Amino acid sequence: MNPSATVTNGTTTVPKLDRPLAFYGTLVHCLSQSEVEIAESTLLLVDIHGKISGLHKDVKQDQMEQLLSEQGWSTETVPLTVLQRGQFLVPGFIDTHNHAPQWTQRGIGRGHLIMDWLNNTTFPHEARFADPKYARTTYASCVEGFLKQGVTTACYYGSLHGDATKILAQICLEKGQRAYVGKCNMNRESPDYYRDASAEESIAVTRDFIDHVRTLDPKFELVTPILTPRFAISCDADVLSGLGKVAAEDPTLPIQTHFNETPQEMEITKKLYPEFNSESDLYEHFGLLNERSILAHCIYMDEYDMSRLEHLNCGISHCPVSNTTSGTFGVAPIREYLRRGMKVGLGTDSGGGFSSSIMDAMRQAFVVSNAKKLSSGGADKSLSFYEIFYLATLGGARVCNLDETIGNFKVGKEFDALEIHTGGKNAGVITLVEDIDSTAKIFEKFIMSGDDRNIVKVFVKGRCVKK
Ligand code: GUN
Ligand code: FE
Repeated sequence: MNPSATVTNGTTTVPKLDRPLAFYGTLVHCLSQSEVEIAESTLLLVDIHGKISGLHKDVKQDQMEQLLSEQGWSTETVPLTVLQRGQFLVPGFIDTHNHAPQWTQRGIGRGHLIMDWLNNTTFPHEARFADPKYARTTYASCVEGFLKQGVTTACYYGSLHGDATKILAQICLEKGQRAYVGKCNMNRESPDYYRDASAEESIAVTRDFIDHVRTLDPKFELVTPILTPRFAISCDADVLSGLGKVAAEDPTLPIQTHFNETPQEMEITKKLYPEFNSESDLYEHFGLLNERSILAHCIYMDEYDMSRLEHLNCGISHCPVSNTTSGTFGVAPIREYLRRGMKVGLGTDSGGGFSSSIMDAMRQAFVVSNAKKLSSGGADKSLSFYEIFYLATLGGARVCNLDETIGNFKVGKEFDALEIHTGGKNAGVITLVEDIDSTAKIFEKFIMSGDDRNIVKVFVKGRCVKK
């Protein structure tokens, strides 16, 4: 894998590409929540800054040289990838909720209630990231593992350790993954060995981490620090108000936390914060609920919480694999969020669940939507395979407020993309593509039965980060 960022005198910059890129063939992307475009015979051009500089549809092979020359390019100087039948481009997947230190505990301790799982499985494991060596090897494997599965943008929770979280940010830059990275804030309701020493220390380590990322990637081109109160149970009022202050000082910082995930968590939150009637009031009070917030789970929603999140334009990270494999079977009201035009994307919530694959998250989102259809007496329609694809791409970009930059192949956006192959000897066990299949059918086969073996190349900002 080629490192995509270079470190010069302590300042990391994202280098330009050596040459522009050109692709000819089929691409599939979402133009909006309800529109998917399957464009065949399309020429897509990427400039040396990694931006999409041209998108020409219905192009005949013999017109290509002319279109390239309009940019001052030619097939001699620009590598042209011609995609064959069964091959196509899709936008990179966006994982809006991911715990990087849980990479090495995926699938462990499922079926237990959240507080038991945190205390018995997660906290002892995350505590190991006090060791920078362990952090370095684990995070290198984690970031590579997600890139391999087509995650071009990840919203990572780190552990509570400042040093380990700096290492995670550095590794995302080195390996070329776009990422939001957060030092996890947690100063109570966890064991002594895994807890911020005090509210002051929790905020100080957070500020130091943000400053450090600014030295690595001054314009947050690839890596952005994100404020990460684990959840209200883990944070006393001083930590939440301290983070709210940091958020107010710098309106570019995103915020992430867990929201209305399980009845047990909601009950304990009420006990610890009896002055608030809802989690939306609680986080809003501390200045942590706004259009920059990425809220994982959002399962148990009454009209009040729903309308507050809608009004405040919060992003929702739907994590269907983890929601349905903890001690409860959580069915989030995704159809209702979409009906209201709210920002919804997918999260693996790796390692809360059995899978680190956004493709599995897509399919489980479909399963959960069927459960919702049943429980709503048919009022909430199931999600279509196009809608789950939307959630994994443009929907996730909206959740991260990155939809002006990524999420589809609109000219001017950055080229975060996956090259998909559905045939050939390394195509794995995808549903066999047959001669009679339309392009739409081949795409459906990929969404419903493909895996990382079909993701042959991965591009972030035009740079190939998986070959
Ligand atoms: N709530 C607080 N911490 C966590 C976590 O690590 N995973 C999940 N799923 N929920 C949480
Ligand atoms: Fe989580």
